[in-house]
Amino acid sequence: MRRSTNDSSLIVSTNPKSPISEVYRLLRTKIPFSSKDMELKTIMVTSSQTGEGKSTTISNLAVTYAQEGKRVLLIDADLRKPSLHRIFSRLNYQGLSTLLAGQANTDEVIQETSVNQLSLLPSGPVPSNPSELMDSIAMRNLLDQMKEQYDVILMDTPSVLSVSDSVIVSALCDGIIMVVAAGKVKRERLKKAQEQLTHVNARMLGIVINRVV
Ligand SMILES: Nc1ncnc2c1ncn2[C@@H]1O[C@H](COP(=O)(O)OP(=O)(O)O)[C@@H](O)[C@H]1O
Ligand SMILES: [Mg+2]
Repeated sequence: MRRSTNDSSLIVSTNPKSPISEVYRLLRTKIPFSSKDMELKTIMVTSSQTGEGKSTTISNLAVTYAQEGKRVLLIDADLRKPSLHRIFSRLNYQGLSTLLAGQANTDEVIQETSVNQLSLLPSGPVPSNPSELMDSIAMRNLLDQMKEQYDVILMDTPSVLSVSDSVIVSALCDGIIMVVAAGKVKRERLKKAQEQLTHVNARMLGIVINRVV
């Protein structure tokens, strides 16, 4: 049975007609499906520091894709401070960490959500070696396998300046969305975060200026 969610972070699902939901749909239209030279199937969100709105943004974007009829897999690759299971009111005993450690299989960890066509792979328990798990063959194989089953794969990651996980994940993704909390981030820190991401192949799809009041 599908449980509904009460979390106010998921506005596109709970209140699709609100102006904020419209902004998330606009964000979606700014992301092309593919370009001449690159398929855009795996997209991650990151930010320079924590609390800027990564998890909120990627969750609402995932709902938007699902509402369009796409089969969506949302992965919580923020293994250190996971939150997608809370946003979608799911359990987190098993997830990406146990899957990559070989302690579970995909059927056991991927969960349906209250949103039709939107599946969630939560983080699982916080592991002792998050960067190592992200940089593994198992992670690459997982994404290759999931690309065949879903139309789009969206990933939440930690902030760039705190740990190397998101830079590792960016090398596995087709595109990156950067969330910036308005007025909270110094220009140099944002520049440094962008520089760390530019040496990999991923394409910077855009910057979301969040929390504008
Ligand atoms: N645009 C926004 N307006 C108001 N609150 C927001 C907005 N975006 C995020 N938040 C809130 O800010 C907090 C941090 O957001 P979150 O998405 O968890 O950030 P991150 O994943 O980058 O750490 C959450 O409590 C979230 O509900
Ligand atoms: Mg988060």
